[in-house]
This record gives sequence, C-alpha cells and structure tokens, in this order.
Amino acid sequence: MRIKTLVAAKDKAYTGNFCEYISEHHADTIDISAVNTAEHLRKTLSARKYDVALLDMAFIGEADYKSINLPLFLRSEQDTRDTSAPCTLPGASIRALPIKHIQKHQRISRAVAGILEEYATANGNIHILGEKMRSVTAVWSPAGGVGKTTVALSYAEASILKERDAFYLDLEDFSSALVYFDEDGKSISKVFEMLERNDGNVKMYIQGIASSKNGIKYLCAPDNFDDISILSADNTRELVICCAETAGELVVDLPCACNEVTRQVFDLADKVLLVTDRSETAQTKLAQFITQNCIYENINEKVTLVINKDTQASGRRGGLDPAIKTQNAIKANSAIKTLEDSAITLPYVEKHDAQSVCRELAAHGFGMYI
Ligand SMILES: Nc1ncnc2c1ncn2[C@@H]1O[C@H](COP(=O)(O)OP(=O)(O)OP(=O)(O)O)[C@@H](O)[C@H]1O
Ligand SMILES: [Mg+2]
Repeated sequence: MRIKTLVAAKDKAYTGNFCEYISEHHADTIDISAVNTAEHLRKTLSARKYDVALLDMAFIGEADYKSINLPLFLRSEQDTRDTSAPCTLPGASIRALPIKHIQKHQRISRAVAGILEEYATANGNIHILGEKMRSVTAVWSPAGGVGKTTVALSYAEASILKERDAFYLDLEDFSSALVYFDEDGKSISKVFEMLERNDGNVKMYIQGIASSKNGIKYLCAPDNFDDISILSADNTRELVICCAETAGELVVDLPCACNEVTRQVFDLADKVLLVTDRSETAQTKLAQFITQNCIYENINEKVTLVINKDTQASGRRGGLDPAIKTQNAIKANSAIKTLEDSAITLPYVEKHDAQSVCRELAAHGFGMYI
C-alpha cells in the first residue's frame, strides 16, 4: 500500500522538486500530491484524506487535521517559534502532541527519509481518523464462470458468521449481484462520479448509501454498466480504501480482465483468492497467468488458490492437473503444485439457486481460513 502524502508549501519550486524526487525514487511507496495556496489546501483536505501531510509553517492554521493521519511541518531557519510543547491542532481535538518537524533546507532525500521514519513510528498508534485500513480480500480468476462471485459472497458471508462485519464491493463489468441483493438503494454510479470529479467526502457518502443484506454491506449496481469503465487506477484505490474503512473485511469481486483496476486492487489486497474449477479451460488460463504474467510474481505471497465446484470429496487436497497440456502448463506445474498445498477446495453444491449455493459454502467451505 502506498502512503498517500500531501506537500503544502507556497514555494512552488520546492513542491515541484519534492514531487519530482518522489516520482523518481519512491513511486512504489509514496503517492504524492502538492498544493501551493491555503485555499487549495482547504479544498484538497475537504475532498480527501491523507496518511501524511507535510505543511509549510505558514499553513499551520489553515489545514483540517481530521483529514490528515500524520501532520508534519516544514521548518526553515527563519521559523523561530517554539513548538516543542504539546499542542492541539485545529480539528484534531482527539490528541495533543508535540508538533513534528522536517527541516526544509536539507537534501530532499533526507527530508523524505525523515517523513518515512516518522510515518513508520507513528503508524502503530494513529487514531485521529478513528479507523485503520482493514482487511482487503480480492477475488479473481482469469477464467469466467468459475465461481468468483460465489466465492466472494460466500467468503463475505463466512466473515459475518465469524462476527466480522463485511463489505462486498462489486467491480465486475457486468454483475450478477442482482441475483443476491435487493437493488432498491442508491447506485454506485454517484460514487464513481464523485471519484472522477475529485469532489466531496467519498467515504461518508459510501457509509450513507451502503445497503445491507444478511449483514453484508454493498453498493447497488451502476445505473449503466459503462459507468464502471471510467474508474481509473487512482479512483479504484480511493474507492477500495473508503470501503475498507467502512467494514472489518472488504471483499472485492473483480472481472476476469487483468487491467489497471484489477492490478490496483491486487496491490491493496491483503489476500488474493485465485479461483478456478477443474475444467481444462480454466486451468489452462490459470497456468498462463501464473507463468506469463509478471503480476503474479508481485502477488504470489498473498495468493490462496480456491478450487471450486469440486465434485469429489470436499476438502480433498491437490489435484489440479494433467488436463492442462500446454507448454505453459508444464512450466506452471511447480508453481501450481505449491499453491495446491495450501488451496481451499470448495465442493460442488447441488442447489438450484445461487443464494443457497453461497450460504452452503459460507457455512462449510472456508473452515479455518478466516
Ligand atoms: N461450488 C459451487 N457449487 C455449485 N454451483 C456453483 C458453485 N460455485 C458457483 N456455482 C454456480 O456457477 C455459476 C457461476 O458462478 P459465478 O457467477 O460465481 O461465477 P463467476 O466466476 O463470478 O462468473 P463471471 O465470470 O461471469 O463473473 C452460478 O450459477 C453459481 O451459482
Ligand atoms: Mg462474477
């Protein structure tokens, strides 16, 4: 997960150099934005929340600290005020802390190292926002129809059975969620619009409109399924974080495409449930993903293979096998074998309606996994 960071200083050259340095050296750990005026700062903080904000001392009275997990202040030699005593920042009424400084006139690499250090130190006990990033589980397969939605929903339901509150976020291009949920609430389309316009408090809106069924929170389907295609990687990231902060367990149901949205969700996920059934077609695609796609290398440590619709004994280990005949499959064999060792095997459930299939799998399928 990247640290969402804001740098606010009147000095445009400083913020420009700062952003350039981060993009060049820390793009994988820090997601940087900059503002140069008090008005822009206020607007930015009213729309988004930041893990870290590095603020010019001139802006100390201008920020809404409810939107900043870790405020740090840029101090130059000219700043003479004594800020070592604990002080309550406006809006951040929950705590009074000594103000933390980063020296402005030093190499940017050092300033960044200072920020990362402060963040790492503070991250264990930041409570200003009253919420931390919760558990995110991505459910994906390169093959269609293998049971991604079923697995996602039964996993969410199993979380509820374990008394964890769960949020189901459907990011499929076309969704079968209508089969499972009532759709009389407000649609997710307005959320997409807010994200696209970078406007309003997305999390509060999501909390306000989320519907709930059997304890699972969800957002109703888009007005138009094209709406989902406007979701950029950054918007996806914000959407996932906002939903994750709304429940203990966020389960994200993804389309088969391995696009920007999917990659962003993989990046944020604590766990990835990689679903397959035992069909030759699904296994062939799975083998291709494992061997040909560099994305797998980045996520393999958080992947759990889910072998769905197993018609033999439930709980049976291993057995994704020789049906895959391509060269890739042979290369993939050892990786697949490793995944098989810790795979979850879900039985084929003889029920006519999809909701009953989910309920059955939730009650019996995930065992000790959750
Ligand atoms: N373990 C199972 N036992 C019986 N039926 C199942 C099982 N898993 C899924 N199904 C059924 O298979 C069908 C397809 O499942 P699902 O919609 O979850 O697949 P999907 O991978 O999400 O599909 P898509 O790629 O279209 O999003 C559904 O009718 C579902 O009820
Ligand atoms: Mg689906």
